[in-house]
Amino acid sequence: MGKSTTAINLGASLALLGRQVLLVDMDPQGNSTSGVGIDKTSLRVTTYDVVTGSVPAEEAVQGTATDRLWIMPSDVRLAGAEVELVAQIARETKLRSAIRLLEPRYDFLLIDCPPSLGLLTINGMTAAESCIIPLQCEFYALEGLAQLMETISLIRRHINPALGVTGIVLTMVDQRTKLSEQVAADVRAHFPTLVLETEVPRSIRLAEAPSYGQPVMTYAPGSRGAEAYIALAREILKRLGLYVDGGDSSHEASNRESDPRSEPPANHDPTRGEFGDPQTTSVARIESPASVDSPATYTETDEQHRHERGDER
Ligand SMILES: Nc1ncnc2c1ncn2[C@@H]1O[C@H](COP(=O)(O)OP(=O)(O)OP(=O)(O)O)[C@@H](O)[C@H]1O
Ligand SMILES: [Mg+2]
Repeated sequence: MGKSTTAINLGASLALLGRQVLLVDMDPQGNSTSGVGIDKTSLRVTTYDVVTGSVPAEEAVQGTATDRLWIMPSDVRLAGAEVELVAQIARETKLRSAIRLLEPRYDFLLIDCPPSLGLLTINGMTAAESCIIPLQCEFYALEGLAQLMETISLIRRHINPALGVTGIVLTMVDQRTKLSEQVAADVRAHFPTLVLETEVPRSIRLAEAPSYGQPVMTYAPGSRGAEAYIALAREILKRLGLYVDGGDSSHEASNRESDPRSEPPANHDPTRGEFGDPQTTSVARIESPASVDSPATYTETDEQHRHERGDER
């Protein structure tokens, strides 16, 4: 649990920190779509049309009320793709092929996957360069995590050898319960380098925000949930070598005036140091593989990528 919440709020936090972010909703439930304020009943073009090849990916992208945060929305029609793709050649790489041309336009692509390990999730993990794994601190957490790691290595062996893991995010952490504390400690002991320092607390504001169609940072700015996701975004940028203390505030400020409803950027602004070279620009994606929980992934330069993969082993 926590995939869509992480996709939405990490995406909004990265956007707040000045990055151009595309959230790809790969779940027929459409929770990220409604969570950023898009009415699911009025969608014309969705992720479904993109993965089935009937429209170019850019036609499915729309702006949100958050500056620099874009969405490729989905609704229940996407469930049909799971069935329709089965008989097709290269069925696992439909999303990857479809979004390739979009990648240079964004600093991060976050893919929110459905709960089950079907063709949609496999497409998400095949398109991604790396995973971020949200992990709810509950009794079966480690068991679920082991299964998810196995899935990731299967995908790596058979389809996407470059797939990395950026980190595990402990979420719904409840400091008042011993179990939550114990699980957090166990997961940290098992995966000392993979578990991110930032923990997302159990927070009523985080649970409420989607019904108002807002990321928590606009629904409840300054709340513990909002602070946690901003801290998480900073930590992830640091882990990827993309955050410079002091330097990032100017990054934030210089992007503040951009119009959220304008066209997506044609490419990175060459004045923005970290992302200067379009060839090596990182694309990060959130995945939400199976039952355990959502992963977010990153991909950076080759060098950073090797570093990540190294972390993981
Ligand atoms: N830190 C949190 N504190 C309180 N509630 C949370 C928190 N994170 C998520 N939730 C709530 O828990 C529920 C499940 O979270 P979320 O939708 O993010 O999980 P998911 O992994 O995307 O689920 P699914 O597999 O169904 O897509 C939602 O109602 C959400 O609002
Ligand atoms: Mg979800």
